[in-house]
Amino acid sequence: MNIIFLGAPGSGKGTQAEKVAKEFHLAHISGGESLRKEAESGTRKGILIGHVMAKGELVPFETISSVIEPEMLAHKNGFLLDGTPRDLPQAEYLETFFKENKISIDFIFYLSVPQEKLVDRLLQRAKIENRQDDTLESIKERFVVFNTETLPVLDFYRSKPNFIEINGDRSVEEIAKEIKDIISANL
Ligand code: AP5
Repeated sequence: MNIIFLGAPGSGKGTQAEKVAKEFHLAHISGGESLRKEAESGTRKGILIGHVMAKGELVPFETISSVIEPEMLAHKNGFLLDGTPRDLPQAEYLETFFKENKISIDFIFYLSVPQEKLVDRLLQRAKIENRQDDTLESIKERFVVFNTETLPVLDFYRSKPNFIEINGDRSVEEIAKEIKDIISANL
């Protein structure tokens, strides 16, 4: 089983993806997490990636594809892709990549939360964690990117039978239960 999780910054993709991946024994592939590790590595490439992420912008296509492609190929029949695709070119590229590699996607979950609530969540996280992109300026830019680049991806997927919009403005447990029930009912 393969799953894609999409949602605005702070919508809970990472939180829910971790739970679902554990529950259904899937490899959790998070472009953001892998890029943060690369940024922390201190290599020249990592430093450049860190600068782009801190500004809240998308990293170049080649950078993200080189991170997620090998992981998807290593777990062809059991991955959860968290936070990609972020724009239409990535969505179109993935369609081809999946076809060429005989990978089928069972569910595309979109966690929907009003954006004004998300800013609060991210500012709360900023007090606890040390993410370079949890500053007000970067958060604003991440929302601009989501609204201009990622919303068209949701329109691209919306008509597909495996696209499921989830109300992400509830407790972590309620959301996790709904997602688990949907997956279990369709296994
Ligand atoms: P990424 O790491 O994907 O970050 P993001 O999309 O900005 O999302 P977050 O990680 O901030 O939030 P989330 O939706 O995962 O929510 P979470 O569970 O953490 O990407 C970071 C950057 O990497 C991008 O800006 C870009 O530069 C680059 N990048 C990544 N993928 C890329 C791609 N494909 N192409 C190009 N560039 C790419 O929760 C957030 C907070 O809310 C936490 O504190 C959590 O505890 C809390 N929370 C979670 N659920 C709930 C709930 N139900 N109620 C209350 N609080 C909750």
